[in-house]
Amino acid sequence: MSAGKLYIETYGCQMNVNDTEVIFSILGKEGYERTESMEEADVILANTCSVRDNAEQRIWGRIEQFNLAKKAKPSVIIGIVGCMAERLKEDLLDSHKVDLVAGPDAYRTLPELVAAAKPGNPQINVMLSREETYGDITPVRIDKNGVSAFISIMRGCNNVCSYCVVPYTRGAERSRDPHTIVREACDVFSRGYKEVTLLGQNVDSYFWKSEEGNVNFAALLRMVAEVSPELRVRFSTSNPQDISDEVIETMAAYENICKHIHLPVQSGSDVMLEKMRRRYSREWYLSRVAKIREVLPGCGLTTDVIAGFCGETEQDHQDTLSLFEEVCFDSAFMFYYSERPGTLAAKKYKDDIDIETKTRRLNEIIALQGKCSLKSYQGEVGKTFKVLVEGPSKKSADELCGRASNNKMCVFPDKVHKAGDYVTVKVLSATSATLLCELVEA
Ligand code: SAH
Ligand code: SF4
Ligand code: F3S
Repeated sequence: MSAGKLYIETYGCQMNVNDTEVIFSILGKEGYERTESMEEADVILANTCSVRDNAEQRIWGRIEQFNLAKKAKPSVIIGIVGCMAERLKEDLLDSHKVDLVAGPDAYRTLPELVAAAKPGNPQINVMLSREETYGDITPVRIDKNGVSAFISIMRGCNNVCSYCVVPYTRGAERSRDPHTIVREACDVFSRGYKEVTLLGQNVDSYFWKSEEGNVNFAALLRMVAEVSPELRVRFSTSNPQDISDEVIETMAAYENICKHIHLPVQSGSDVMLEKMRRRYSREWYLSRVAKIREVLPGCGLTTDVIAGFCGETEQDHQDTLSLFEEVCFDSAFMFYYSERPGTLAAKKYKDDIDIETKTRRLNEIIALQGKCSLKSYQGEVGKTFKVLVEGPSKKSADELCGRASNNKMCVFPDKVHKAGDYVTVKVLSATSATLLCELVEA
């Protein structure tokens, strides 16, 4: 019998997307059916993000919308889960019409929380855990294409980058049993998936201790890569301080480990990196990039950057621009600094760069990155790539799209192949985000 219809909106990073899949699995076992319609739902959850203030602002707006749905159907339970739930705890119950609050480590208790939540009797569990990895739970996949699945390999974060709220919302770092990771990879492969992305805030510090032998991230990569040569392996995020030569060499050793590294730099200035507590220097970062390019020619490289961190001078900003120029990333996630309450930076430094300056600097980085992306993509013209087809392209039903190993999106006319096939394409031209290709006969 159905316990009710469950609707979940997901915000923030891929780890949250994967957590939503875990929640569907946990509540699904209790008879909750997934719905994609808010109006139809008996339980509405928002799986939230706190990383920047505007992420939270969006969610406040959604809570208003949920409450409109509740007006029409007063029995609806509205719940806030994830990072914002963890950050704001009881405050979410006090001021806003929310029936349930659950932090990222409390999802196993959701069946009880949902059952007990009644208007006027809100439920909350924001306990963080040192052990919870949801390792034994098989996520209910919510991706649309059935080709590419995300697998969490660890939770939490032990770094204390001074601007970042994640260690407070996700708790201490813990790694998941590698056997459960491999089992999940085998499971999705047997169901037709052709790509897994291993997720963690700092994948290079993955470590599993056991009597059969310890498993570090490079060893885990080998284990997952050996599930099948037909299963592509990706991972995110790598920390410049921790990405090891062993990992880079393991990538080189397996054709099916995709040649793409997301390596957030955050700033090109040593003064800023120090204040951000990033544990590496500009020089170290550039030397890691050089190593990657030496061992993995053609490897895709993407990054994250923050403009206008506390005390950032014009020179610091220029250092970021010159680093971007020097590395020429394929693409970047670019943000201006948003102070997060409770973080080291909020306690120690003044958020003293005015919004106009932050915006101007961010726009300068975005403009430069636009040119670099175009250069990087156009540099692929004439090359051939093996592409995993994800489905029809956004623009045309006569075209398919899929990624090359280096993560660049390829689009090509094709009426024969389908999602999940591997094809070989040749690049004819490029925009700053897409390679326009033709099929090459195998
Ligand atoms: N664990 C990953 C990143 C997690 S958060 C890493 O270490 O790289 C994703 C990105 O959000 C970060 O890389 C950073 O660029 C950005 N970010 C985090 N906190 C921020 C803040 N307070 N203001 C602006 N951007 C922030
Ligand atoms: Fe945040 Fe730093 Fe941890 Fe990434 S490594 S989640 S930026 S504290
Ligand atoms: Fe946001 Fe939490 Fe991810 S703060 S970026 S959802 S870990």
